[in-house]
Amino acid sequence: MNAVARTLRWPAPPRPPERQALWSADAIAAATGGQASGAFQVSGVEIDSRDVRGGDLFVALRGEMADGHAFIGKAFVNGATAALVDRPVPYPHVLVRDTFAALQALAAAARARSDPARIVGVTGSVGKTGVKEAIFAALQRHAAGRAHRSVRSYNNHVGVPLSLARMPADSRYGVFEMGMNHAGEIAGLTAQVRPHVAVITTIAPAHIENLGSMAAIAAAKAEIFGGLEPGGTAVIPADSPHFAQLRDAALAVGAQILSFGSAEHADMRLVDAIEAPTGGSLVTARLGDRILCYAVAHPGQHWVDNSLCVMAAVHAAGADLGAAGLALAEMGGLKGRGARLRVAVPGGHALFIDESYNANPASMRATLAQLGQTPATRRIAVLGAMKELGEFAPSFHAQLADPLAAAGVDHAVLVGPEMAALAAELGTAGRRALGKPGGFVHCASAGEAIAALEEWGLTAGDVVLVKGSNSVGLGRLVAHFAQHRA
Ligand SMILES: Nc1ncnc2c1ncn2[C@@H]1O[C@H](COP(=O)(O)OP(=O)(O)OP(=O)(O)O)[C@@H](O)[C@H]1O
Ligand SMILES: [Mg+2]
Repeated sequence: MNAVARTLRWPAPPRPPERQALWSADAIAAATGGQASGAFQVSGVEIDSRDVRGGDLFVALRGEMADGHAFIGKAFVNGATAALVDRPVPYPHVLVRDTFAALQALAAAARARSDPARIVGVTGSVGKTGVKEAIFAALQRHAAGRAHRSVRSYNNHVGVPLSLARMPADSRYGVFEMGMNHAGEIAGLTAQVRPHVAVITTIAPAHIENLGSMAAIAAAKAEIFGGLEPGGTAVIPADSPHFAQLRDAALAVGAQILSFGSAEHADMRLVDAIEAPTGGSLVTARLGDRILCYAVAHPGQHWVDNSLCVMAAVHAAGADLGAAGLALAEMGGLKGRGARLRVAVPGGHALFIDESYNANPASMRATLAQLGQTPATRRIAVLGAMKELGEFAPSFHAQLADPLAAAGVDHAVLVGPEMAALAAELGTAGRRALGKPGGFVHCASAGEAIAALEEWGLTAGDVVLVKGSNSVGLGRLVAHFAQHRA
């Protein structure tokens, strides 16, 4: 929380309501064309037996690796009220032909019965979850707790219908994240979500391996407009080189446009941003004749940009911008996406910035810039490989040398084979400051990186950015040092 947020007093955000009845057995049977074994009410929907809580409907999906029907007993041990199954089981259930199709049908029923609710869909190359969470926090405040959202990054062909099926009937707002690896995926998801507001956070080279070009990535994200409800609004990044492409795709389906960014033509336009001494920013923005001033707790220029996107989306959803300002002022860093932790080290403490959940060229640059602005005795970057870049991987990794230098990084720990390109770039005949002996190490795994960092020795005042694609496993490194949380 920044200085302004700390000195102002405002009401606490509403608590989420107690778990209420979500679906009756009859409603599930009607939605899915299935047969209920008896009468019951469920208060949640879950697909992983380990995550089942009391009152849930456990949906037994048949995956490539495992069949959910094998875990039904476990789901009931964990408190499931009923199961959605494709063969009879000795527990309360609804029997259907295909449980995945039934989950989609339940999602469609949830969306249909939520008719007066305003629905926001969020996609983009980076920042989806953070922006989704911030929009949700704003709408939750505005609607006194009657907003719903997809949890975590539940943004694929399973996560989206699951999140829809979980939406309470009396929700006034719903916020859903949509992700993709391939063209055509967002089209399928947006048809289920049918948003009133379709948000694209950023266009950046994530998943370029499958899509081939930046224009193709932009086109794949623009598929979200295909599901817009009539009269809906497209919230798009005004500063993106792909702005015109996104705008034209939105106009082609009759959408209204609300753009955000620093560009002159942006509707939600950045006027000024001041970095707060405690982290975070104070932002001034303009929307038509209105001047908006608000605090953003998340540090970094990328969160100034994200905040404009959040403000635009909340406005397009017809909710209160004051509520959005309060939500942005009090949002803490999410685990793996910017959470900060103090770790005890000889002589005091070091600050870890936990960005271990994902990485691509855009988010690497954004967070390295943020590291450069964070006061520190020494700046250390633990960088894991960026996945799914295909043939572009070597050049995107090597290109991190400049942002590392610009951020004044004193020591780098590079993790994963893809980082060989950056190691080679840094090591080129002393051209780079980090190329000096001890400037950087290249490790094969998170375990080796822990050992390298311990051998190098952290001291008081160090700031350590930990960032890489999730599969590199740098979350383990953060957890290791978090054992000595100060
Ligand atoms: N606007 C932005 N520009 C560049 N980087 C950003 C931006 N917003 C967030 N990031 C960075 O991207 C990281 C991931 O953010 P987030 O989890 O919100 O993205 P996502 O799009 O939901 O990712 P995923 O595709 O894995 O679901 C953050 O930790 C931060 O480093
Ligand atoms: Mg996400």
